[in-house]
Amino acid sequence: MIALVTGAGSGIGAAIAERLGREGHEVAVNDLHLDAAETVAMRIRDAGGSARAYAADVSDEAMVNAMMERVGAQMGAPGILVNNAGFGHQAPFLEIEPADFDRIFAVHVRGTYLMTRVCLPAMLAAGQGIIVNVASQLGQIGGVELAHYSGAKAAVIGMTKSLAREVSGQGVRVNAVAPGPVNTPLVEALSDEWKAAKRSELPLGRFGEPAEIGGVVAFLCSDDAALFVGQTLGPNSGDVML
Ligand SMILES: NC(=O)c1ccc[n+]([C@@H]2O[C@H](COP(=O)([O-])OP(=O)(O)OC[C@H]3O[C@@H](n4cnc5c(N)ncnc54)[C@H](O)[C@@H]3O)[C@@H](O)[C@H]2O)c1
Repeated sequence: MIALVTGAGSGIGAAIAERLGREGHEVAVNDLHLDAAETVAMRIRDAGGSARAYAADVSDEAMVNAMMERVGAQMGAPGILVNNAGFGHQAPFLEIEPADFDRIFAVHVRGTYLMTRVCLPAMLAAGQGIIVNVASQLGQIGGVELAHYSGAKAAVIGMTKSLAREVSGQGVRVNAVAPGPVNTPLVEALSDEWKAAKRSELPLGRFGEPAEIGGVVAFLCSDDAALFVGQTLGPNSGDVML
């Protein structure tokens, strides 16, 4: 299948793209930064897979539409969409500027909406499709100095459930993953105090690795996950138990 992964130039998205590439999917590697996307696409091709890189800001409607025209012309319509693009920002609630709040919601929520909006019609026409949204456990339990980020991830989980209810009967499965802390540049940027406190809370005693999230997303994209609809899987080192 053709699989489009957003924010796949780094961290979790790169690991998802590489895993889907190894499983035989043709991967459209999106990122804000073309060079990062190119590097990951090249790694997939070097491993014997098929991949192309596409730059676009997922929160920008014109860029999203232009990218999907190129993806459609060069690869075809994606049967798998992984909405992973995102970034972290940490601040005490009263120090979150409206611009910070808007950007967090623009990338995580509007980006997921815009990408889904352009990919869904072809999935519905084909009577099959898979969408996986990368949320966060912080969307389930909240996080200190992360009100805007947690709120955006909770919105992604809500959107996942609503869309799943709407389109699963037409062959499109929509699910989410809500990782705990994973060793990527996003987590590296958080304060040392936050990381030390979080690590000590985890039953597993360690953060996840990007490839461990890639495996969970690959499962959700597989036929083995046929009964998973509107679920939020939690690869979170035991931090959240639902
Ligand atoms: N690392 C964690 O602990 C963790 C935990 C839970 C959820 N997440 C989520 O996982 C996703 C990936 O995070 P990561 O840790 O791999 O971060 P990362 O910084 O390593 O990678 C994120 C990638 O997304 C790209 N990106 C950012 N904004 C974009 C935009 N507007 N359009 C297109 N690409 C964009 C960046 O350029 C970067 O390459 C994010 O949605 C993040 O919120 C991460």
